[in-house]
Amino acid sequence: MSGIFISFEGPDGAGKTTVIEALLKKIATITNKEVLVTREPGGSEIAEEIRQLILDPKHTEMDDWTEALLYAASRRQHLIEVIQPALAADQIVLCDRYVDSSIAYQGNGRQLGMEKVKQLNDFAIQGQLPQLTLYLDVPVEIGLQRVKKLGAGFDRLEGQELAFHQRVREAYLKLVEENEDRIALVDATQPIDDVVAKCFAKIQQLVK
Ligand SMILES: Nc1ncnc2c1ncn2[C@@H]1O[C@H](COP(=O)(O)OP(=O)(O)O)[C@@H](O)[C@H]1O
Ligand SMILES: [Mg+2]
Repeated sequence: MSGIFISFEGPDGAGKTTVIEALLKKIATITNKEVLVTREPGGSEIAEEIRQLILDPKHTEMDDWTEALLYAASRRQHLIEVIQPALAADQIVLCDRYVDSSIAYQGNGRQLGMEKVKQLNDFAIQGQLPQLTLYLDVPVEIGLQRVKKLGAGFDRLEGQELAFHQRVREAYLKLVEENEDRIALVDATQPIDDVVAKCFAKIQQLVK
């Protein structure tokens, strides 16, 4: 594989979508490589159908491990159908959420255990980790406030209690500590231009 695989992590409202959009233009100024922006399920029909099952608010009886397994299954399908072909074609892949989301949300948010959820995902992704993960860090309240302002309804995960989101952030911070060589923390409470600049600087190191 000759492309570059970069994932973006952080809670809803951290700024992932906004930052990726801005980075797209900046990256075009430093390389001729094509840039693919994707997020699970990424237009894969199978991955999409799996995801519908997870997020449907009427599925209140869904077991937490079933949720984790379905996320891993959807992730694998997106990896095989979308990410790997792009990397094989020498593209830069910007992926909005990947394996660290499961470790944070199911591992610590749902309290299944970060290590167990990591192992489950290792099975699904077979070692295909991003070269770089940009974790956009914001206090829970700020992230939720930004999402609320947008006026979109909460899905089955976003509607969780504050303590859930707090556990998710703690997990992300632990992942940053344990994966210093892959995950970079970016303070996403800063003005959006600063957040974009910090992310771009990290990407430049990889592309050059
Ligand atoms: N650094 C920032 N400062 C202020 N507002 C921001 C910042 N980053 C994002 N926002 C705003 O927060 C909202 C959510 O951003 P978004 O990019 O959709 O986050 P995510 O994709 O991580 O859920 C948007 O209205 C966006 O304009
Ligand atoms: Mg988004």
